[in-house]
Amino acid sequence: MEQEFDFENRIVSAEFSGEDAAEVSLRPKCLEEYIGQAKVKENLSIYMDAAKKRGESLDHVLLYGPPGLGKTTLAGIIANEMGVNLRVTSGPAIEKQGDLAALLTALSPGDVLFIDEIHRLSRAVEEILYPAMEDYGLDIIIGKGPSARSIRLDLPKFTLVGATTRSGLLSAPLRDRFGVLLRLELYTPQELAQIIERSAAILGIAIDRAGALEIAARSRGTPRIANRLLKRVRDVAQVQFDGVITQSVAKQALKRFEIDELGLDEFDRRMLTAIIEMYNGGPVGVDTLAAAVNEDAATIEDVYEPYLMQIGFLSRTARGRCVTPAAYKHLGLTMNGQQML
Ligand code: ADE
Repeated sequence: MEQEFDFENRIVSAEFSGEDAAEVSLRPKCLEEYIGQAKVKENLSIYMDAAKKRGESLDHVLLYGPPGLGKTTLAGIIANEMGVNLRVTSGPAIEKQGDLAALLTALSPGDVLFIDEIHRLSRAVEEILYPAMEDYGLDIIIGKGPSARSIRLDLPKFTLVGATTRSGLLSAPLRDRFGVLLRLELYTPQELAQIIERSAAILGIAIDRAGALEIAARSRGTPRIANRLLKRVRDVAQVQFDGVITQSVAKQALKRFEIDELGLDEFDRRMLTAIIEMYNGGPVGVDTLAAAVNEDAATIEDVYEPYLMQIGFLSRTARGRCVTPAAYKHLGLTMNGQQML
């Protein structure tokens, strides 16, 4: 029998959970406080300055990249820097055309409407969005049957900030209506260490540089995971040590959570091991792999693979996924799948 893995409570999950609610207070409010994503910051700052100089609203922005990298945070920063309100919703939350119409008509000039998981909007809702984004118009049908007619309402000029994991998930007409496309990248351990130190200062947690780097190295390039691990390591530091997070404290705490030196947990190891043992190291198609490890193919692509590829453990080829020699070494396996002695 496959061992059950508790995905919901995966400590290195990049998905937002109730436990991350305090994350909101850790979110930087302006671009200057925002660490990492240098290219995104530079571009955004130019576009925002230009829009402000012209006295216009910022063009619609699409943010894409793996979960937990700060897309919602950036939407908040855009609203704050432009001096407008932020309205937050998500693709699955907008069920009917009327839901979106209600949101759009409640906007004030210049406001930022943030739609998370925008690729999950239904076709019907998307169709309302096209004229709204392009001409700031809302087409509504009044009446039924032969007497039905369409009238157009004017909307205030607003900025739509959409977020998704991969830009390819959007339909072409929707993607084409964004003037600014920004890809968020996984953070480097140095950037994550800076974020951890900033969060620790806000939360009043004592941590030294080596402790921050130790947590950073195991956070899968993701600030949300880094902040979560920081809080869990603090618990261990306070109960079993003197409350200060040093490298040695961090190492012992993370060992307890079964997160290895590179941030891999049981699921990563199981997926890599499955490719090695069942498919001789690959190539294996993502759908086949998904069935083998009992996980959704999209989750494998959006959540697990980006980090495994970044650390050079997995490569994507035209014929499928392959495990690299570095991953064999990390797992202590030889190329024919035997445990190294
Ligand atoms: N907290 C979460 N993400 C952050 C970032 N990119 N910069 C600063 N603090 C953060």
